[in-house]
Amino acid sequence: MDVDEARWLTWEPGHGETLRAALERTLREAIRTGALRESVRLPSSRALAQALGVSRGVVSDAYGQLEAQGFLVTRSRTAPVVAGVPRTEVVRREPEAPARAPRYDLTPTTPDVTLFPLARWLAAAQHVARRASTTTLDYREPRGERVLREALADHLGRTRGVIAEPEQIVVVQGTAQGICSLLHVLSARGASRVAVEDPSHTTQHERIRAFGFELVPRPVDHHGMVVAGLEADAVLVTPAHQFPTGSVLSGERRRELLAWSHAGGGLIVEDDYDAEFRYDREPVRALQGVAPEQVIQLGTVSKTLAPALRLGWLVAPPGLADDAARTKRLLDDFSPALDQLTLAELLTRGHYDRHVRRARAVYRARRDRLLAALAKHLPELTVEGVAAGVHLLLRLPPGVDDRTVADAARNASIAVPPLSAFRIRPSDDGGLVIGYGRLHESTVAAATRSLAKLVRAHL
Ligand SMILES: Cc1ncc(COP(=O)(O)O)c(C=O)c1O
Repeated sequence: MDVDEARWLTWEPGHGETLRAALERTLREAIRTGALRESVRLPSSRALAQALGVSRGVVSDAYGQLEAQGFLVTRSRTAPVVAGVPRTEVVRREPEAPARAPRYDLTPTTPDVTLFPLARWLAAAQHVARRASTTTLDYREPRGERVLREALADHLGRTRGVIAEPEQIVVVQGTAQGICSLLHVLSARGASRVAVEDPSHTTQHERIRAFGFELVPRPVDHHGMVVAGLEADAVLVTPAHQFPTGSVLSGERRRELLAWSHAGGGLIVEDDYDAEFRYDREPVRALQGVAPEQVIQLGTVSKTLAPALRLGWLVAPPGLADDAARTKRLLDDFSPALDQLTLAELLTRGHYDRHVRRARAVYRARRDRLLAALAKHLPELTVEGVAAGVHLLLRLPPGVDDRTVADAARNASIAVPPLSAFRIRPSDDGGLVIGYGRLHESTVAAATRSLAKLVRAHL
């Protein structure tokens, strides 16, 4: 600790307290609470006295007292060091026990991060960092790096039919921040009701509620979200691959939804979270590409690369994109620039596309194996969801409580959520939302056998 770092030591003698006693008390409290940790070297008595504007004797007396009490260790000619003493915890907390990894991780929201193209990422990051000028390392544009927005405009146009100028794209920290930015903008515009699919991702429910909106649940069937009767200022929807049921919003429902928006001005927020992974055919075009004035597309690399990158984007009509960029500035100024440039490099050099193709083949193989294993071990149950993404829905018969089954699975070290965990309103339709992203081919058979045994015990 140098003298500058000691400036936070605000100390004031109490009534009748000497300077020495006040300094001694302040240091003792800092040591007891852990603000000054064991082995931290304090400034020399001369330096601290100068910094605090007191005589050197005040500091050396205080140090001497603290040494006598066992709070400091001093050696001649060197500055004192904080001794190891039991701490008075300000708030006593048990250390968090590290969560034990389940034997079979069937979480539906997580990709296989071991597929992350680390060598490519590092090479691109190094290339970008070497070329970075001082301005690259400075405060940057809240909307995101221009080269990334240009690369995304090309990429999304080519792969998702999205129609966007780079100015309409705002780079955000994952879908999570994209949604929060939009909710912020909607709130400022006086919106009060936001609809979501029921079931859907629970954190989306929490976000909508946290911003003070009324959460309007919309039922979902084999054709995706039911549009008839929708009343809200905005709706958050997963048209290409409904999460978690796995249906695709049908052509008719897409038309209904656009007509709803056209008639009343309601905004459609399209969570396009895993459209890169469709295995049986080309994914349906993003809704944004059909109605760029009414739809905001949210995208992410959480499924294709890794959630830890916190890289995503929103594509919005110009006015809304401006508002979202202003919100982005309020939130965190801008997303980390070097990571954005690295992603742009992967996109423009074709590495991103190649990686997605490779990952798609892996997930497709895992899905095929899982389907075959489920057909063998639980032939009486139906599997729902199109051949896409990294999850499917195993329906349970009416009357079987999916939470009980999921609890039993957890006790058997199988992590798989029940469908009801994603619901806003209770329903008798239960199921297990099975993720195969992390289910290595070699473990599919054993995992399915264990799961089937346990499910069967509840049928
Ligand atoms: C429905 C849905 N949307 C978006 C995401 C990605 O969120 P983020 O980009 O914040 O990581 C996920 C990830 O599991 C998801 O399930």
